Amino acid sequence: MHSSPRLLLLGYGNVAKALLPLLDSRGSWLEQELGIRPLISGIGSRRTGFFTHSAGVALSELAKEVNPLQLFSASGHASEDAAAFIRAGRATGANALIELTTMNPDNGEPALGHIRQALEAGMDVITANKGPIAHAGEALQTLARQRGLSLRYESAVMDGLPLVNLAEFTLPAVGMRGFRGLLNCTSSIVLSQVEQGSSLEEAIRSAQEAGVAEADPWHDLDGWDAALKTTILANALLNARLTPRQVQRSGIRDLSRTEVVAAARKGTPIRQVSSAQLVDGVLSASVSPQRLQPDDPLFAGRDLGMISLETEAMGTITLTEHSTGVLQTAYGVLSDLIAIQRARNASQETH
Ligand SMILES: NC(=O)c1ccc[n+]([C@@H]2O[C@H](COP(=O)([O-])OP(=O)(O)OC[C@H]3O[C@@H](n4cnc5c(N)ncnc54)[C@H](OP(=O)(O)O)[C@@H]3O)[C@@H](O)[C@H]2O)c1
Repeated sequence: MHSSPRLLLLGYGNVAKALLPLLDSRGSWLEQELGIRPLISGIGSRRTGFFTHSAGVALSELAKEVNPLQLFSASGHASEDAAAFIRAGRATGANALIELTTMNPDNGEPALGHIRQALEAGMDVITANKGPIAHAGEALQTLARQRGLSLRYESAVMDGLPLVNLAEFTLPAVGMRGFRGLLNCTSSIVLSQVEQGSSLEEAIRSAQEAGVAEADPWHDLDGWDAALKTTILANALLNARLTPRQVQRSGIRDLSRTEVVAAARKGTPIRQVSSAQLVDGVLSASVSPQRLQPDDPLFAGRDLGMISLETEAMGTITLTEHSTGVLQTAYGVLSDLIAIQRARNASQETH
C-alpha cells in the first residue's frame, strides 16, 4: 500500500457533491492500481461551516450518509473560516486541498489566497475554479514547484475533457501552435435558441435552466468566461504568460437577432470562438463572434463544447464534449488526483 491522500474539500456545492460518490465508486481501481484508499479529512463551505476530522473519514463510510457534511458537523472539529479550516486540516495530516468554491472572475479571490495558503502549508492542490488559475496560475505553479508540490486544474476548462493533462502526458513535444474552440456553452445555447426563434431573454433562461450559465450570464455572453479559459489554455498549452485582460474580447451582446438568424439560414451560424495562436513566437489571443463555415472543424460542435488544437507533429486534433456537467467536472478532479498520486508513488519508489 502507498500512503493514501488525505483530502480537504473546500466548497461543498454541485461538483464536490458529485465527487464524493465518484471517488467511492472508483475505490477498488484506486486501491488496485495505485495502492491507495483516500480519506476525507474535512469539508468546508461558506454557509454550512468548516469541519475537520482528525482521523479522516473513509469514502465508503461517507457513501452511506445521506448528508456527508452532517457526519463532519456532528463529529468533527469546527473552524471559524476557510483559512482556519486549512490550518486545522493540515494539522490533522491532510495533504491535498480540493478547491471547489465559487468563481470570482475579477481577481480569483478568495480562492486564490486559499490555494496559496495550502501550497505554503505543504499541501498539493486541485481546483476546478478558473479565477485563481487565469489570474495567477504561473505564480501558483512556481510556488508549488518550489515546495515540491503539485497544482492541477484540469476541470477549470471544459470540465473533465482532457486538455491540460492530454498535452502534458499524451502529447509531449508535439509542438502546440494554437487552438480554436467553443469554450462557453452558455453562448452556444443562447445563439442556437435565438436562431430557432427564441428571444434573448428566453434563450438566457434556457441556459440557466440547463445549469450551465454563470451566476451573471453576461459574464458568458460578454466573453469574460471564455477570456479566462483562453488565458488558462494559452498559458498551459502554449507556454504563454497571458492575463485575461490581454485577450482581445468582443462578446455577443451587440449582435442583432436578425443578424444571428440570417447567418444560420445561410448555413454559417455565429458562435463565440476562443482562439490563441503562436506566429513566429508572438501570441495573439481573442474571443469573438464568428460565422462558422461548414468546412470549419468547429462547425460540427456548434451546439456542443469543442476545441481544435493545432500541432506541428500531429496536425489538427479536435475534441468534442458531448456531455457537460458536474459529473464530467468531478471526473476531471479525479483525473488530477490520479496524476498527483502517480507522481507521489513514483517518487516513493525511487527513494
Ligand atoms: N458545475 C460545473 O459543472 C463546473 C464546471 C467547471 C468548473 N466549475 C467550477 O467548479 C467550482 C465549483 O462549482 P460548483 O458548480 O460546485 O459551484 P456551487 O454549486 O455554486 O458550489 C460552490 C461552493 O463553494 C462555496 N463557497 C463559495 N465561496 C466560498 C468561500 N469564500 N469560502 C468557502 N466556501 C465558499 C459555496 O458555499 P455556500 O453555498 O455556502 O455559499 C458552495 O458550497 C466553481 O469554481 C466552478 O466555476 C464547475
